[in-house]
Amino acid sequence: MAHVNLITLISGDWQNAGADLFAVGLFEGGSLSPRGKSADESVGGQIGNAIINGDLKGKAGESAIFYGESSRILVVGLGKKKDFNAEAIRSAGGAAAKAAISGKWNHVLVESFGEDKTKYGGQALAEGLILGSYQFLDYHTTDKEQFELSNISVIGGNKGGIEKGTVVANAVCLARNLENHPGNVSTPTKLAETAAAIAKEGGMKLTVLDREEFTQMGMGGLAGVASGTDEPPKFIVLEYMKGKKSQKPKIVVGKGITFDSGGISIKPASKMDEMKFDMCGAASVLGIMKTLAGLKPKMNAVGIIAATENLSGGKAYKPGDILTAYNGKTIEVLNTDAEGRNVLSDALSYASKHYDPAFILDFATLTGAVLVALGHEATGVMGTNPKLMERVKKSSEKTGEKVWELPLWDEFCEHVKSDIADVKNIGKPMQAGTIAGAAFLKEFVGEGIPWVHFDIAGTAWGDRKRSYFYKQSATGEIIRLALDVMGA
Ligand code: BES
Ligand code: MN
Ligand code: ZN
Repeated sequence: MAHVNLITLISGDWQNAGADLFAVGLFEGGSLSPRGKSADESVGGQIGNAIINGDLKGKAGESAIFYGESSRILVVGLGKKKDFNAEAIRSAGGAAAKAAISGKWNHVLVESFGEDKTKYGGQALAEGLILGSYQFLDYHTTDKEQFELSNISVIGGNKGGIEKGTVVANAVCLARNLENHPGNVSTPTKLAETAAAIAKEGGMKLTVLDREEFTQMGMGGLAGVASGTDEPPKFIVLEYMKGKKSQKPKIVVGKGITFDSGGISIKPASKMDEMKFDMCGAASVLGIMKTLAGLKPKMNAVGIIAATENLSGGKAYKPGDILTAYNGKTIEVLNTDAEGRNVLSDALSYASKHYDPAFILDFATLTGAVLVALGHEATGVMGTNPKLMERVKKSSEKTGEKVWELPLWDEFCEHVKSDIADVKNIGKPMQAGTIAGAAFLKEFVGEGIPWVHFDIAGTAWGDRKRSYFYKQSATGEIIRLALDVMGA
C-alpha cells in the first residue's frame, strides 16, 4: 500500500512524539505557526536567522530543512496570511509528506498549519498529507531505492476534520490506484469487484449487469461500444440508502472505458497508452461511494458505471451504425471514438428511469477539446440547472478543484441533431467539441432533473504540479468536489 492510510493525533510536546521530522509553517512576512518557536530553539535559532537573512520567506511552495542535535525541522511556506485557505493547508501537507519521502524518514509529525482550526482546515490537512504520501510503485520489482512513508502524525489539529479528510483521501487513493493500473488489470470486471467490496463495507445494494443482461434490457449504447471487445463489459449500480425514504437520491454517473483505442475510427499511436485513464469517471464514482462507506452519512446516493473497452475487430460497431439507447432514443454513430457519450446515454437514461433523483452528476474523460480549452487546470462543467451549477462552483472554490462553465445553449444542441436518427454522436468538425458532448448527453437526462456534466479529460491526469499529486499519475480529482456538492 503505497500511501499512508491513518493519521495519529498527538497531544503534549512534539519533542516526545519520536518523529523523524517535525514540520511547521511559515507565513510570508515572517510569522511561524505556534510551535515554530520551540522548533527554532531546537535547531539553535537557525530558522529565525534564515528569515532575518532573507533566505526563508514563507512563500507558498517554499520549504527548507534545519537540523538540531536531536531534531529535524521542516519549515513549509504558507504564503500570504490574507490568502490563506484550505488549499494552502492541503499544499503544505502534501509538501511535508513529500519531504519525508525524499529524505526517507519514516515518521513525519506535522503541526496543524497556521490558524485554521476549523473542521475543514483539519480535513484539508489530512487530505494533503495522505495524498502527498501516495506513490504508485506496484510494477517496480528491481528498484531497491524505493521508500514508502509509514507514519504521519499531527499535533494541534481538528480531530473530526482529520478523520474525515483521512476517509476522503483514502478513497481518492483507491480511485488513483484503479486509474493508474493499466487496461489489462483495471478491467470492467475489476471495477465490478471493487464495487462489490465497497458495497460490503458500506451496506450498499450492488447490481452488476453483464453483456447479455444489459443488451437484452435495451442498453444499445453500451452494447454497441462493447461489441468490439472480448473483455467482459459491466453495467454497475451501487445504492447507498441511509437517508429518509422520502429523500431523493443524489446520483453520480461515471464513464468507465477501461481502454479507448478509438475503435474502427482508430486513434493515432502516440499517447494511446494514456487511454487506460479513460475510466477515471468510473473510478471517481467508486471513490465517492467508498467515502460514503467510510463516513456513513444519513443520505441517499446512487453510483452508476458503464464499463467496457473500446476496441476494433470483426464484431466492432462501425461508423454509420445506429444504436438505440435505454430511453429509446436513436444514436447515429459517425465516429466510434466518441464512445464515452454512447455508453453514458444508457447510464443517464437508467438513472432517470429507475430513480427520482435530487440531481445527477456525471464524470467523464469525454473530449480532447476540453484540454484545448482549459488545459490541465480546470474541469469543464455544463448543465441545465443554474442552482445546481452555483453549488458546483461553490464546492469548487472550497475544495480547490477548479471548474469552468461552458454554455450549453440551444444553438449548440442543434449541433448533435441527426438527419436519420434522433442524435448523432459528434458535433460540427473542430467546433465546440466539449459542448457538443454535453449537448448529446442532455438528450438522455430525464426532463426536469437537475444535472451537471463534468468533462475531466484535462484534470484526471496530466502534467500539473501539486505537492499532493504523484508524477505521471492520475489525480483522483473531482471526488472531493462531488462529495461536497452531495453534502457528504
Ligand atoms: N477518451 C477520449 C477523450 C480524450 C482524448 C481524453 C484525449 C483525454 C485525452 C474520447 O473518447 C474521445 O476520443 N473523444 C473524441 C470525440 C470526437 C471523436 C468527437 C475526441 O475528443 O477526439
Ligand atoms: Mn474515444
Ligand atoms: Zn474515450
